[in-house]
Amino acid sequence: MIIAIDGPSGSGKSTLGRMLARELHLLYIDTGSMYRAVALAVMEAHLDPADTEAVAALAARIDIDLEGDPDSLKVLLENRDVTEEIRTEGVTAMSSVVSTNPGVRRAMVERQRQMGQRGAVLNGRDIGTVVFPEADIKFFLTASPKERAERRFHEDRLTNTNVSFEQTLTEMTERDRRDSTRADSPLKVAEDAIVIDSSALSIEQVLARMMEHVHRHH
Ligand code: DC
Repeated sequence: MIIAIDGPSGSGKSTLGRMLARELHLLYIDTGSMYRAVALAVMEAHLDPADTEAVAALAARIDIDLEGDPDSLKVLLENRDVTEEIRTEGVTAMSSVVSTNPGVRRAMVERQRQMGQRGAVLNGRDIGTVVFPEADIKFFLTASPKERAERRFHEDRLTNTNVSFEQTLTEMTERDRRDSTRADSPLKVAEDAIVIDSSALSIEQVLARMMEHVHRHH
């Protein structure tokens, strides 16, 4: 079974994706972490992100692996554990830039299809539209920008006490804009996706709704 979960940042994709994968004993693939690993590699190689050919060539060449269960997923870049590093602000911003590069996307999509072919919960922006258009179930999670920024702010504050809510909201809005307006595989709702707005729902309530759809599908 292949379950696609798409949506903007802060919509609960990773929390719910993990829970669903655990519940259903499926592999969990966080595709955003792959774009983040590419971004880190680009920064470390001191490439100009505007040099699309060099960036795409790097993305096609580097080794990116996801390892472990949904709750302790490790991201490996050339066999080096970069799980923490890819969550820094700089990498977050760069990942939204490199993910507009069609060559980067082609390389990642190919790997995601290979990794997921035997069944998985995949989350990202283009899973139901591009990576697995034939997915068994497609969810599109969303929430109001304010709610999403608030969630991200509380998360970020655990590691960075200097960050302000306004800054989180501004950066998130800019990334949403870039993710939704890019020419190649922009974030959009697949025609056959189940849209869940979690603004006024608890995590448990969202999970219950998703599980209802999964059971109905069987
Ligand atoms: O979900 P995330 O914040 O970890 O994703 C990081 C960036 O990668 C984000 O700007 C959107 C992009 N991305 C994408 O373009 N396609 C995906 N399938 C997943 C993430």
